Amino acid sequence: MKQKPIGVFDSGYGGLTILRELVKTLPEYDYLYLGDNARAPYGNKSFETVYHYTLDAVRWFFDQGCELVILACNTASAKALRSIQQNDLPLIDAGKRVLGVIRPTSEVIGNFSSSGHVGVLGTSGTVNSQSYLIEIEKFFPQVKVVQEACPEWVTLVESNQCDSPEANSSVQAHISHILQQDPSIDTLLLACTHYPLLIHTISKHIPAHVSVIAQGEIIAKSLKTYLERHPELALQCTRNNQRKFYTTGDITDFNAHASQFFGEVICADSTRLSL
Ligand code: DGL
Repeated sequence: MKQKPIGVFDSGYGGLTILRELVKTLPEYDYLYLGDNARAPYGNKSFETVYHYTLDAVRWFFDQGCELVILACNTASAKALRSIQQNDLPLIDAGKRVLGVIRPTSEVIGNFSSSGHVGVLGTSGTVNSQSYLIEIEKFFPQVKVVQEACPEWVTLVESNQCDSPEANSSVQAHISHILQQDPSIDTLLLACTHYPLLIHTISKHIPAHVSVIAQGEIIAKSLKTYLERHPELALQCTRNNQRKFYTTGDITDFNAHASQFFGEVICADSTRLSL
């Protein structure tokens, strides 16, 4: 029987933080991961560019047999998801599904805060799109949200500098800036999949009363519910406990990152999208 894995897409390594939680919550499914490391970061690229890169990836996942693709990348979710869902999917195959991470996160983020003040840390693309402000307002109109773009953080992660002095000073500057914007913040959302990889450095600069929320568990719970609500789609996704990893970048580097997460032999391969 042809494999029909769940596709998980990110601009680079960050989506592995989401995949790890998907595998914990729904281990029986097959997963196919693609990191567009060769073209990362996405956060400072135009809407047009992120849309075209993401559409390339979605077509690639469909060619591999996926019925369902998760855009684990917030920037791609902010800049490409709606166009792909509304304009491209009906032309490619209306039966297939592409889901993002911003809406499921916005649906629950207000529940983490007692003060009703939430800070969102994301790429410039995600922050400028205002997507979190718009979506959180729909579910938690009483919650006050402030945002901070942390443009260097993805590059620090992609270049293996998570514990460097540069990472430390950049993290310190952005955390103190967002907390100055609104001192009542008690919940900080890591609205970029790469940021949990900086958690050791981030934790050093977080006051005790502030919780830091990564998206992985939220997205995993949301996918579980989604598959329960769409049994016809769930039935089409194959369940052999397999994971495959592809990168558009360097396989050795990718394997080193992915094995930190999955602690198993990784079968990463490289693929060329239409670069
Ligand atoms: N990891 C992606 C996100 O969640 C984007 C990182 C980037 O390529 O800038 O936004």
